[in-house]
Amino acid sequence: MTSKISRIFHGTLIHSLSLTELEIIKDALVGVDEFGKIAFVEKEVLSEQTVNDILSEWEATETKHAPQYPNAGTGLDVPLLEWLEKYTFPLEQLFSSLAFAEKTYPIVVSNLLRHGTTTAVYYATIHLESSKCLARIVHQKGQRGFIGKVNMDRNSPETYIETTESSSKDTENFVKYVLDLDQQSRLVTPIITPRFAISCSSELMHSISEIAERYNVPIQSHLSENDAEIAFVAELFSDPNYTSVYDNHKLLNNRTIMAHGIHLSPEERNLIKTRGAGISHCPNSNFSLCSGVCNVRQLLDEGIKVGLGTDVSGGFSKTILDSIRSASVAGKVTQMTAPKDKKSSPITLNELFYLSTMGGASLLNLENVIGNFEVGKEFDALLIDPESHQSPINLFEGIDDDVERVFEKFLFLGDERNILKVYVRGKMVSGTEYEGDC
Ligand code: GUN
Repeated sequence: MTSKISRIFHGTLIHSLSLTELEIIKDALVGVDEFGKIAFVEKEVLSEQTVNDILSEWEATETKHAPQYPNAGTGLDVPLLEWLEKYTFPLEQLFSSLAFAEKTYPIVVSNLLRHGTTTAVYYATIHLESSKCLARIVHQKGQRGFIGKVNMDRNSPETYIETTESSSKDTENFVKYVLDLDQQSRLVTPIITPRFAISCSSELMHSISEIAERYNVPIQSHLSENDAEIAFVAELFSDPNYTSVYDNHKLLNNRTIMAHGIHLSPEERNLIKTRGAGISHCPNSNFSLCSGVCNVRQLLDEGIKVGLGTDVSGGFSKTILDSIRSASVAGKVTQMTAPKDKKSSPITLNELFYLSTMGGASLLNLENVIGNFEVGKEFDALLIDPESHQSPINLFEGIDDDVERVFEKFLFLGDERNILKVYVRGKMVSGTEYEGDC
């Protein structure tokens, strides 16, 4: 049975074929079927009109703390553990009020869509009703989302903590709710979210890993972000290292996304690789909280899956464009500070784009579903206008700004004003109807 074509796009198409290969197709014609899947990609289809738009696939695996969004751009004067106490927990506590969540989360999700985040991996808070609210809003707005009700049963403020029992019970309730909520479209998925080993008892971690297994849902947490955090984990657990704490609680598998992973030992990296887990690299946050510089080149060389995250509000920027820029800087810092006998190469433009698209998809085991414009994949895309009159990205007459340079300039200088439309599974989820050539 052939499906009907519901939309056709004409323009310059840019996507990643592999970590190092970027494909740019000028005058591409892309057909999207009624189910939002890419039905065909034709090359070199010339239009009578000039097509200046770049259609670029974007699969931002955003590790995001949705409730921390109101703090973005503030409170970055202290390291992780103090930052949690001083700024983050007090804000997250406000989500005990469902009314506050209902007011705040729609703004967060709409903003992320407008900035081009087609897929977001969210940490909510410990509160069941507000976490459900976030899932509903992501569902209503058509974003692809992984939503986690956060687990915290120890080493947390008296007013922002759960009992082991209620944490585990609410988690199961949440997982069932989200699975029911989105039975049809399956764009919204629950994700088991122990905040980090410091705030979860062993009993709780065992119990929620069983829930993850029972419902076959992914897992996310924070790992090896900061020296004081690592030392605290070593005091709390007798496992050989931080990564093995999660592993020994069956929280490390090929559906696990660990944010940060900055200070991992070779044994830990090997364990992550063996289990098929991945790292969400959040360079802005790593700089802002002075956590350290993640050696992404090493992770990639060792075959560990890596995607990019913003980590709002540890990172001050809400856009994956910033993660690309910060990841580029982090790669250069790694290179500049590498010991002379351990030369490191920078993260190339193609690699940066891969990390923000296919890398993210691979963390979610969605590399056969999204991440680039292969026929049969779902059409998640951004329509980019590099010459948006509100935000022209530095193009000059008389200078040969070919499509490669325009693309590079968009990644480093562009912003949401260059993003005309955002599509998830073929449906426009942000932007205005465009009167241009496609
Ligand atoms: N570790 C535990 N909680 C958090 C958080 O909210 N943000 C970051 N960056 N690290 C964490």
